[in-house]
Amino acid sequence: MRRPIIAGNWKMHNTTEKARELVELLKPLVGASDVEVVVCPPFTAIAATVNAAAGSNISVGAQDLFWEDWGAYTGEVSGPMLKDLGCRYVIIGHSERRQYFGETDATVNKKLHAALRHDLVPIVCVGETLDEREAGKTLEVVRRQVEDGLKGLAPDQVETLVVAYEPVWAIGTGRTATAADAQEVIAFIRDTLKAMYGERVGATRIQYGGSVKPENIAELMAQPDIDGALVGGASLDAISFAAIVNYKEHQHK
Ligand code: PGA
Repeated sequence: MRRPIIAGNWKMHNTTEKARELVELLKPLVGASDVEVVVCPPFTAIAATVNAAAGSNISVGAQDLFWEDWGAYTGEVSGPMLKDLGCRYVIIGHSERRQYFGETDATVNKKLHAALRHDLVPIVCVGETLDEREAGKTLEVVRRQVEDGLKGLAPDQVETLVVAYEPVWAIGTGRTATAADAQEVIAFIRDTLKAMYGERVGATRIQYGGSVKPENIAELMAQPDIDGALVGGASLDAISFAAIVNYKEHQHK
């Protein structure tokens, strides 16, 4: 009942030309997939990516947005601007934004409300740091991020959004959480959402992110609560991103 969703977060990579090339390479490779496929270019390459992806099964997302719609906020980009470009998704609260740009659960919550107001599907990121994991605080941290970051919504809004569990120590490090660890935290996130919004939000899709590769995606996707992946480094290469999207071909179950 939860359709798998695999999203590529290109981070600060790809000019317009490179973005177009990558989408052209991806289109035939992922065209037969029943997985929801999303790519998230930097703001400057969104228009080119939307154009290149037109008519294909690839949707486009942004990597951030500001919570106000218009105004004197130099350098910021708002929900209506992203909608205008043809974005359908937006990543909110990525750990790099929390770490380098001062994002908090409070700003995540404002951005989440702004995204929903403009019919963008949020991909809300949560996850503990290495220190927090080693101190045994993983579930406590993730619960706070979910309770504070995702508060004040209607249950039907919660059903449409996507949560990405990304342990900070697994991002860009080559060190993936074990499938069992990822499953444990993702099931806990689902329970936390149900405690906040009721049983029906069992339909909310929850991704895993952090060093996802063609070699580990099938095992992750085999877990009952993992509904997809948010992929950084491996999404910059068409062959490896397509292999992740087409994980069912390698699943031996
Ligand atoms: P990674 O990044 O796949 O390069 O570890 C994941 C992410 O930051 O979303």
